[in-house]
Amino acid sequence: MTMTRIVGTSLGLLLVPLLSACAQESPTPAATAPLPVATASAAPETQPGMDPPTPGRTPDVIYVPTPDSVVKAMLELAEVGKDDVLFDLGSGDGRIPIAAAKTFGIRAVGIDIDPQRIREANENAQAAGVTELVTFREEDLFQSDIGDATVVTLYLLQSLNMKLRPKLLSELKPGTRIVSHSFDMGDEWEPEETRRIENRNIYLWTVPER
Ligand SMILES: C[S@@+](CC[C@H](N)C(=O)[O-])C[C@H]1O[C@@H](n2cnc3c(N)ncnc32)[C@H](O)[C@@H]1O
Repeated sequence: MTMTRIVGTSLGLLLVPLLSACAQESPTPAATAPLPVATASAAPETQPGMDPPTPGRTPDVIYVPTPDSVVKAMLELAEVGKDDVLFDLGSGDGRIPIAAAKTFGIRAVGIDIDPQRIREANENAQAAGVTELVTFREEDLFQSDIGDATVVTLYLLQSLNMKLRPKLLSELKPGTRIVSHSFDMGDEWEPEETRRIENRNIYLWTVPER
């Protein structure tokens, strides 16, 4: 057997299982939208040799950003206006509060448990020139003071939305709009409107009078 054939055969043996593993994990065209998943541990996301800041406790869901077109649709669904204060619970790189501040000139707050996300969000707010309007807080969203919000945005999980529902209903002012990307609140709270954008659903609720 020549050297070329030996190398070719070895490469083939290596590639077959790799390609078949990739094929099994590929999303189907109907389900191309990446969805966040619950976390058992935080994934390392920095270069080797760098010390990533680590959250005080494991985030409840991994970081997956909302595409800009979906952010725009969420702000439209909430009918954000110049008098609103927007809170994004689990704010990732800060794109939703930053978009709200840039588009409407409103105050916006992002809450994330992961210090690496908070650092990125602050850098992004600086680059967007909205540091006067936007604040990022490194907090657990379940413990956070959210009473100033008039609009709340979520991209978590259905189970987390349902766990958060009592806090939303007791701490938010009546009339506050809640918009969630991809996840509803199951049977516990029917959304008043659902829109479809980029193969995903976005949902709207309004906090009722108490
Ligand atoms: C799916 S990402 C959504 C990011 C952003 N809202 C967006 O739509 O682009 C969820 C975020 O929630 C954060 N997170 C998870 N558990 C949290 C918790 N208990 N308190 C605050 N943030 C949390 C994660 O660190 C992550 O950045």
